Amino acid sequence: VSEPVFKPKEKDFRLAVINRRFASIKEILPVMSSKGGVGKTLISTVLALVLKDCGYNAGLLDLDITNPSAHTALGVSINELPEEERGVKPLMVDGIEFMSVSFYTKDNPLPLRGWEIDNVIRELLAITIWSELDYLIIDTPPGLSDEALDVISYFRSPKPLVVVTPSPLAINSVRRLLQLLNDLSGLRILGIVENMANKASRSIKELADAFRTKYLGNVPIDPIIDEVIGDTNRLRNTILYAKLKEIARKHLVLTP
Ligand SMILES: Nc1ncnc2c1ncn2[C@@H]1O[C@H](COP(=O)(O)OP(=O)(O)O)[C@@H](O)[C@H]1O
Ligand SMILES: [Mg+2]
Repeated sequence: VSEPVFKPKEKDFRLAVINRRFASIKEILPVMSSKGGVGKTLISTVLALVLKDCGYNAGLLDLDITNPSAHTALGVSINELPEEERGVKPLMVDGIEFMSVSFYTKDNPLPLRGWEIDNVIRELLAITIWSELDYLIIDTPPGLSDEALDVISYFRSPKPLVVVTPSPLAINSVRRLLQLLNDLSGLRILGIVENMANKASRSIKELADAFRTKYLGNVPIDPIIDEVIGDTNRLRNTILYAKLKEIARKHLVLTP
């Protein structure tokens, strides 16, 4: 059995660089879920728009390396390359700073193993020069594997926003994610958003209580959402946007 050439968490000079790169960002909010297809990408993208519209400096970083899709939600042409200047400046999209591996992979599949994905993440984090941001929203890969959880290990005090749907199939799964996040010492979970739910589920509210985190709110099924993906102006006229704005105003207020 061959050992990986690159051993994570060992003498990687990029770790110090990564630390510096994120020093100018006040709040880092990774959007996480134990299951795929629950709306992480849409919520990340629209939340970044909401925060920008509320007057904050906002950024969006896609760290779902094997399945990047935030550029599609945001309507970004990946034929452009971000500008280089002793690092890479995120692309400015509708007032939001945006970075994704898809600028480099051009939507081709990236058949990488776990440690290789980690390597791509480190590279992306090390090269990107963010401005002074109030909020950086991170779209993350789904699941409970190392790959899904390692993503948050690079940041000082990330506050995960957990996305779940009301399906009974999702409840046990999200409990496992909350358990894993809870076990990380000092980590504060920002809260839970229940997506594609026309009303709040008692079981999810109870779960939030059990893990001493907040039930941030429910986002109803929005029948037009797939038609407006990629058009930031039309995304602003959705129920999803209105709901996330309500959540942001209530739970995401940065004091200067
Ligand atoms: N509130 C919603 N109403 C209707 N459809 C939604 C809603 N949220 C997400 N979807 C749909 O669910 C699918 C998965 O969303 P996506 O953001 O890609 O999830 P993830 O990133 O968690 O895999 C998409 O087709 C999207 O249009
Ligand atoms: Mg996604």
